[in-house]
Amino acid sequence: MNFEYAAAPESRSVVKIDPVYGHFINGKWVNGSAHFNTINPATEEVLSSISLGSAADVDAAVKAARNAFDKSWSKLSGRERGKYLFRIARIMQERAREFAVLETLDNGKPIRESRDVDVPLSAAHFFYHAGWADKLEFAGVDTTTAPHGVVGQIIPWNFPLLMLAWKVAPALATGNTVVLKPAETTSLTALLFAQVCQQAGLPDGVVNIVTGDGSTGSAIVNHPGIDKIAFTGSTEVGKLIARAVAPTNKSLTLELGGKGANIVFGDAAIDETVEGIVNGIFFNQGHVCCAGSRLILQESVADEVLEKLKRRMDKIRVGDPLDKNTDLGAINSAEQLAKIRELTAAGEAEGAGRWSANCALPTNGFWFAPTIFTGVTQAHRIAREEIFGPVLSVLTFRTPAEAIEKANNTPFGLSAGIWSEKGSNILWATQQLRAGVIWANTFNKFDPASPFGGYKESGWGREGGRHGLSAYLKGSAK
Ligand code: NAI
Ligand code: MG
Repeated sequence: MNFEYAAAPESRSVVKIDPVYGHFINGKWVNGSAHFNTINPATEEVLSSISLGSAADVDAAVKAARNAFDKSWSKLSGRERGKYLFRIARIMQERAREFAVLETLDNGKPIRESRDVDVPLSAAHFFYHAGWADKLEFAGVDTTTAPHGVVGQIIPWNFPLLMLAWKVAPALATGNTVVLKPAETTSLTALLFAQVCQQAGLPDGVVNIVTGDGSTGSAIVNHPGIDKIAFTGSTEVGKLIARAVAPTNKSLTLELGGKGANIVFGDAAIDETVEGIVNGIFFNQGHVCCAGSRLILQESVADEVLEKLKRRMDKIRVGDPLDKNTDLGAINSAEQLAKIRELTAAGEAEGAGRWSANCALPTNGFWFAPTIFTGVTQAHRIAREEIFGPVLSVLTFRTPAEAIEKANNTPFGLSAGIWSEKGSNILWATQQLRAGVIWANTFNKFDPASPFGGYKESGWGREGGRHGLSAYLKGSAK
């Protein structure tokens, strides 16, 4: 007998969305001169109208941040700064449901993930950094403990609130002031965060939020009053920013794309491994820079893993992101869906075998069924380029050396996973892999205390942990 789940939608009555939002500059709401809509990608419903930041708006925000740095924030002791961070963290916890529902509405991710991952981890980043604010001289970082001044922060749409927390918490803990731009499809939780800053009594101008698109981001990058840029997003834009910043004195950290290898050795515990593969690529619709998007399977277990993986994929519940039983939500935008379709079409054209889970997709909104490609070779675009969707490319290997060779054969170097029952095998493989984060017998585990970042085209610098603090202190490597 087949039991169906009853619908279990989370109520959206907890959130109040204004019809129009301004920028948050110097502690006040400033309406922009132009606007664009933000929609719910699961339904295409227009949620609100967002201000499109101009160069003048960015300039006002930078001036406010400089003034706040000079007059208030840099004069406070670490202990006083820490109190504000603790307050922000507690308010985020108190308003967790509001943040989770709003994130799900604006981004399309399942409420289960925004509620259990994005929001608690965001609060955890503020708690963690609150603790460091008065202990910077004991952090053991190879820098002074002086802040840069004004930092410009540009974040993507895949973890809107969490990426804000990764950026704002260490910046404030180390004594910097902030001008942050959320991604154009997901501004709402950043604007709710601005309300939290007001509620926490944060001095005006310490956090400024300017909404907008790439032109707004570019105005931040090129503003002469900014001392440091922190960016998370595509490698393409990361390269543009690196070029723009190179002839200046600005400090820079980049967290860019990935093509993470998830390596399964013949001795792995297969059922646990299948769960880890699913979490590695289908978490957050695969819109994850460190996703395990290349599955590298030892031939001896390939058939068994693939059969169990397909059976498991048929059970993934795709649909209403506000439903508490949904596993896979909407693709964030029509543009991203087009990119996933283009790359999966290339996979088929280049000869890889396509298989998709048997699930009904809603008719409105942007959706893509969980999909795997088998028979993928190193030359295929789907093995080399970031798809950033619920699509897994499967390669196989015979010897451990071949697994490492394939895993490292990528322009990226952000994450990797190893599945094996043997500790010596895991230690050997981690030493060979060129990736900033390596998980063993798990995947997509995050903690504010552990540094995150990549090699090669995955970026520069680390975020989180003690290492992440140094990026916000003077004297750190550029
Ligand atoms: P994107 O890199 O264009 O956007 C990220 C942020 O950068 C957004 O806030 C955007 O407004 C801003 N931005 C865009 N152009 C800019 C410029 N010239 N100067 C300064 N800021 C600028 O990423 P997009 O177009 O949303 O996604 C394209 C692809 O990038 C995705 O398919 C995915 O492969 C990758 N990506 C990777 C992410 C990661 O976490 N590593 C996050 C988002 C996208
Ligand atoms: Mg949206």
